[in-house]
Amino acid sequence: MMQQQLNSYLQNMTLEEKVDQLLQLVGVFFEDAETDGQITGPMESLGITEKTVRNVGSVLGIAGAEEAIRVQQAHLSKNRLGIPLLIMADIVHGFKTIFPIPLAIGCSWNVQLAEESATIAAREASVSGVHVTFAPMVDLVRDPRWGRIMESTGEDPYLNSVFARAFVRGFQGKDLTNDTDRVAACVKHFAAYGAGEGGRDYNTVDLSAWQLREYYLPSYKAALDEGCEMVMTSFNTVEGVAATGNKRLMRDLLRDEWGFDGVLISDWAAIKELIPHGIAEDEREAAQKALLAGVDIEMMTSCYNGHLPELVRSGQLDEALVDEAVMRVLKLKQKLGLFDNPLRGADPEREREVVFCEAHRAVAKELAVKSCVLLKNDSVLPLNRSQHIALIGPFAESGDILGSWSWSGSQEEAVQVIDGFKSKISSSLLSVATGCSIDEISEEQYAKALQAASQAEVIVLALGERSDMSGEAGSRSDIRLPQAQLELVKRLKTLNKPMVAVLFNGRPLDLHGVIEEADAVLEAWFPGGEGGAAIADLLYGDAEPTGRLTMSFPQSVGQVPVYYNHFNTGRPQLDPNTKERYVSQYLDVPNEPLFPFGYGLSYTKVDYDSVQLSSDTLNPGQALTVKVRVTNTGTRPVEETVQFYVRDISGDTVRPMKELKDFRKVLLAPGESREVEFSLAEPQLRYHHADLSFDSDSGEFAVFTGPNSRDTTEGRFRLVKETGK
Ligand code: IFM
Repeated sequence: MMQQQLNSYLQNMTLEEKVDQLLQLVGVFFEDAETDGQITGPMESLGITEKTVRNVGSVLGIAGAEEAIRVQQAHLSKNRLGIPLLIMADIVHGFKTIFPIPLAIGCSWNVQLAEESATIAAREASVSGVHVTFAPMVDLVRDPRWGRIMESTGEDPYLNSVFARAFVRGFQGKDLTNDTDRVAACVKHFAAYGAGEGGRDYNTVDLSAWQLREYYLPSYKAALDEGCEMVMTSFNTVEGVAATGNKRLMRDLLRDEWGFDGVLISDWAAIKELIPHGIAEDEREAAQKALLAGVDIEMMTSCYNGHLPELVRSGQLDEALVDEAVMRVLKLKQKLGLFDNPLRGADPEREREVVFCEAHRAVAKELAVKSCVLLKNDSVLPLNRSQHIALIGPFAESGDILGSWSWSGSQEEAVQVIDGFKSKISSSLLSVATGCSIDEISEEQYAKALQAASQAEVIVLALGERSDMSGEAGSRSDIRLPQAQLELVKRLKTLNKPMVAVLFNGRPLDLHGVIEEADAVLEAWFPGGEGGAAIADLLYGDAEPTGRLTMSFPQSVGQVPVYYNHFNTGRPQLDPNTKERYVSQYLDVPNEPLFPFGYGLSYTKVDYDSVQLSSDTLNPGQALTVKVRVTNTGTRPVEETVQFYVRDISGDTVRPMKELKDFRKVLLAPGESREVEFSLAEPQLRYHHADLSFDSDSGEFAVFTGPNSRDTTEGRFRLVKETGK
């Protein structure tokens, strides 16, 4: 379809029809829909007429090929101009085949598998009738109290950007119009939703423009550079103005400076929420501000529907702004091929073959294996198949391992931890007990756990947070495991048997009460539908743990936010043992996190030689080679993640102690040694200066290589941009 045809649609639309294109409703509004949609926000009466529903531009949260076909066909039969609906849904970490949560996917540092997971999610979603996914969520996160930590890939702008690109590639492919196995991606939440004060969801964000550009914006930009079709606004404020009504953020930066010409959608009810935010007096003003800011689609409130026509007719809004927004929506429909093929990928027969097929599940298992992070192992893992195991804890026999945002996933079909154990050892070697529920312990449950444990050689504890303790509206101020589970650990510890803890959670936790007591701790996150099988492979050494944290684990909640790429301050704590007083430190906890960014163990050991630089100076236009030799000194093969960091010793603004610049995955056979090489050039050293210009500084730099952000060896060089510096 040509631009001319889109223009003719626009010309033939009444003002009301145009405004209705800018409304998104959930499935309940469509009389032919069977489900009530995915309700992820308050549902208030919207005062929507049947006529509006007939003209509406998009629907949220319906899925299933038959359902999608029915809704689309019914819509087309009633819509005066025959404009198809866009069907959108939150396909965050899988459709029916559920992959690990994105925070876990981040910990795999496996960009290729991350892309593949998005490709599979897109295939399953598309064949089930979905056209657009509200993903990837690329918010940079530093506060584990925030429940939506689980949806991000972590605390590093570089790594988040790499994953943002991979997810967009996986969802969209190269040809959205003809490749109906793909869906359009919608990067969210623009912007800086991850920086909410106190980790409380929907809370205020107040960052300097410098910090916003330097740390929080790069991952959204990366997704857009990869061709991401849509952007979703965030619920928070940015520089004092709620994002959804923020003209500087949306029209000036996103549209004018970055050149984004795709569809910008509000988050659920976020336009109306400009009123409680206190930047609009009523729905009319909210509608006006959001449209002026450049928001095209209003999700699940009716400020546009109720007020844009009158605002235009009274001359308070230029109709050209409405036209521009409608044209962007029509163009997306065109790009997805919906005018020619309104049912697009929806196909009930193929849906039965493709969705949750063996091949997809195998990738979900592989990614789950690679996402788990071994945090501690005092020689108890891998387990031996001849050992008698007591599997105890609320997650031993639980399907609640998918994690939040798994709408179409089935807990009943999830491979539980007990299933994993049953695939490894005979039932005579396995005793199972719940021990306690997520947050309550009863003497009866404990007695059964004690009995199971007393028969066993090794106790394996499956502990964690329920999946609804993270995700949207899942903030917590206490990020320890629930007290009942800590009590269970304490009591079982008195048996003096080797104890392994496997943790299911959507955020870095304060692990005190577990980390000291257990001999081994495997962070499984929410590993998705194949989780139990992946965990059993790891515990029995049939797979090697290779996951590495992408978010620091705090010593305690009082240390939050704690992240690896922090600044030095003017009074850094140089030696924690001197007890010097007037330095930047806590009196009661170390400055260092419990586990740093990049950390994770394997069953083998990899030694790092010191870092070698090809030169001690770097000039613009040239590249420096940074090499490190790594040797597998253990007896098992491993895929090691070699990490490469840089520090600008003195800049125009303060610079982080370390910044991840690159990483390599290297396969090392037992005894094998390899030289790993990185290249560093001047553009990689650029950053936002105090005046927001993007440049590098002449002067001294440190480079670091190592297995994590803490245990590195350092080299130095000078960047020489002008002679004499
Ligand atoms: O996509 C989500 C968003 O991340 C949070 N609010 C609801 C939206 C639609 O479900």
